[in-house]
Amino acid sequence: MTIWIALLLATFAVGASAQCKCESMKWATCDGTPCQCSIMVDTGITQNLDCSTLIPKCYLMKAEMYRAKNNLSTRTGGKPVETAFVDNDGIYDPICEATGAFRAKQCNNTEECWCVNSAGVRRTDKGDKNLKCEKLVLPLFANQEKFAPSVDGQKLEMENILVYYVDEEAPTFTMKRLTGGIIAVIVVVILAVVAGLLVLFFARKREQKYSKAEPREMEAL
Ligand SMILES: *[C@@H]1O[C@H](CO)[C@@H](O)[C@H](O)[C@H]1NC(C)=O
Ligand SMILES: *[C@@H]1O[C@H](CO)[C@@H](O)[C@H](O)[C@H]1NC(C)=O
Repeated sequence: MTIWIALLLATFAVGASAQCKCESMKWATCDGTPCQCSIMVDTGITQNLDCSTLIPKCYLMKAEMYRAKNNLSTRTGGKPVETAFVDNDGIYDPICEATGAFRAKQCNNTEECWCVNSAGVRRTDKGDKNLKCEKLVLPLFANQEKFAPSVDGQKLEMENILVYYVDEEAPTFTMKRLTGGIIAVIVVVILAVVAGLLVLFFARKREQKYSKAEPREMEAL
């Protein structure tokens, strides 16, 4: 009888531990009753996760930076598939709010900071540590209804769907970084024009010389 109870308890325990895993994050480790999953985000620092929903991107980026630093496996090149788009600057070590959202100002553990939107993508020029980021800029969702277009009353099937997020507020990049490049282009254009004018000038001078030389030769004859 005790053996049966022990066996029953053992199978129950195995069943429980098999269920205790994170479906939405393969790098998470899960333990305990009730099942709690967490992920390593820094040396000696773990972040508890709610695996019943999508893991916040801020935690994913933190975990990925930690893994890259410690020579653990990461996604190849920060991309899930080769055709995926990546953020303009690549990944950095973000500061996350308690909710899992990105903090509006990010510095990647350096003296250089910038403001991000809710996807953690940079939306301002890079500045120093005193840079002010008023609030986290959210995406603009004008229409929250399910997108289901139809043609002549027939539902339109789509093969490839590309979703563009547009922020509520426009980014505030300035052309500061481009100034050097623009000056270089202007200098090259001016040099090209001057060179062209010089070639034209000398070509015309030579032509004039010939036309002047001809009558003189005639005189001499
Ligand atoms: C990182 O891992 C690879 C293979 O897993 C190994 O060859 C390499 O020596 C490791 N580098 C460091 C710095 O630990
Ligand atoms: C953040 O810093 C790491 C080095 O610690 C670097 O590899 C990475 O490119 C930086 N990311 C950005 C967006 O500056």
